[in-house]
Amino acid sequence: MLRKPIKGIVDPPGTITREYVEDYIREILPEEQGILKILMQQAQERHIPVIEPEVAALLKNIIKMSGSKKILEIGTAIGFSAILFATAAGKDASIVTIERDPDYTQEALKNIQEAKLEKTIKVIPGDALEVLPRLENIFDMVFLDGAKGHYGEMLEQSITLLKPGGLLISDNILFRGMVANDELVRRRKKTIVMRMRKYLKTITTHPQLETSILPVGDGLAISLKNQEEEI
Ligand SMILES: C[S@@+](CC[C@H](N)C(=O)[O-])C[C@H]1O[C@@H](n2cnc3c(N)ncnc32)[C@H](O)[C@@H]1O
Repeated sequence: MLRKPIKGIVDPPGTITREYVEDYIREILPEEQGILKILMQQAQERHIPVIEPEVAALLKNIIKMSGSKKILEIGTAIGFSAILFATAAGKDASIVTIERDPDYTQEALKNIQEAKLEKTIKVIPGDALEVLPRLENIFDMVFLDGAKGHYGEMLEQSITLLKPGGLLISDNILFRGMVANDELVRRRKKTIVMRMRKYLKTITTHPQLETSILPVGDGLAISLKNQEEEI
């Protein structure tokens, strides 16, 4: 049964962890350096929703721990996370990232060039719903960070593109807490919330996936694709 928020001790809608905890974590994490620091500042100033610092720190470690080199991202924006992934994956990394907004695509290409990572990161312009069925490479990790209402439609393609033992990481899955509590849901967001709940139900019960859900950033789901013999 869902517990209701208790008056007086719940953070304002929009946060899924206590603000003081989030502030503390952000304070102790070392700042990104170089172009990542510049891009993070730009994103904050221009309200571009790039991954939060604590999510960036977690994903860097996941990439290093899992030895992921071939990474597919849906939702490039200005290229912050793609550059972060390429840096974390190191030598022999190969990042493919899909972006449907032409202005962001251009900006990401410029930033990737500035980071001297144009050989490592390939930006595919277009809607992931159309691009995914055309991809043939197999990836170690897929990062879903595009339109939240469409994760469900991208799920089976993403699983197909993952190697056995690969990782599917879905961002923003708690959507400012709304996914976890009806009282926080704003009317215009109802459809996204319903779709996200359905997506979470699917990935937590999917026969090919082992999923954990973490209340970090805006909510992160980490799904491990089973080895073939476990299916
Ligand atoms: C949250 S931002 C991505 C942030 C980026 N991953 C980062 O952390 O640096 C989401 C991006 O996904 C793009 N997007 C949304 N739906 C998409 C789709 N179906 N196909 C491709 N791009 C999409 C949006 O245009 C937006 O730039």
